Amino acid sequence: MSNLNLFICSLLEVLECYIISDDSFIIPLLSVLLAAFWIMIPAYIPNPIAALCGGGAPIDFDKNYSDGRRILGDGKTFRGLIFGVLAGVIVGGMQIYLVTTYGWSSLPQQTVTSVIILSLGALLGDMGKSFIKRRLGKNRGDAWPIADQYDLVIGALVLMLIFNASWLFANVTLPVLIAILILTPVLHRVVNIIGFKLKIKKEPW
Ligand code: CTP
Ligand code: MG
Repeated sequence: MSNLNLFICSLLEVLECYIISDDSFIIPLLSVLLAAFWIMIPAYIPNPIAALCGGGAPIDFDKNYSDGRRILGDGKTFRGLIFGVLAGVIVGGMQIYLVTTYGWSSLPQQTVTSVIILSLGALLGDMGKSFIKRRLGKNRGDAWPIADQYDLVIGALVLMLIFNASWLFANVTLPVLIAILILTPVLHRVVNIIGFKLKIKKEPW
């Protein structure tokens, strides 16, 4: 074996020992990130599906608020809301199926209720954000950094707090919440850039 091969082999061996050793932070870190992702899947699906399937009648029926601006705007439609929530619930149903079929008991356990709340909450958060955006005089599609990324997290978790607080506190621990706050803007950006390139989204945010 050449010196280089020998070096790489020993390096891999050290890394392997480190990763599986008890005091390694890598495995706990990965499992927290995975738990955060698994919990948020039903909340991540509705937005891109709404962008894909949206259109038609706006949820605010084209009506203005007392300030003379649209209540929500043309970017929030019934079709987007219905297909978005349906898609989130279907994917969440698949998660429940996978966990029960393959006994992945170390993952957070989604339930029919949690999946519905997360999907609906994500798009209610999105609508709440659009409502405030219009009040601030921002037009449909204008970027509103931070709010654009966290609307779905706030909507999903607040709705969960109202209707299924026990599930929320059992699954969204502080480390998981921090992981959700780190993961969400990263995934949001990646998915929106893909949507923009595929011409599904008008803006890359
Ligand atoms: N969409 C929809 N119905 C929803 C949510 C989204 O039809 N309930 C569709 C719309 O076509 C929208 C697109 O998904 O334009 C992208 O969503 P989003 O970025 O949330 O809307 P914006 O157009 O940016 O509008 P706003 O400024 O109100 O956020
Ligand atoms: Mg937008």
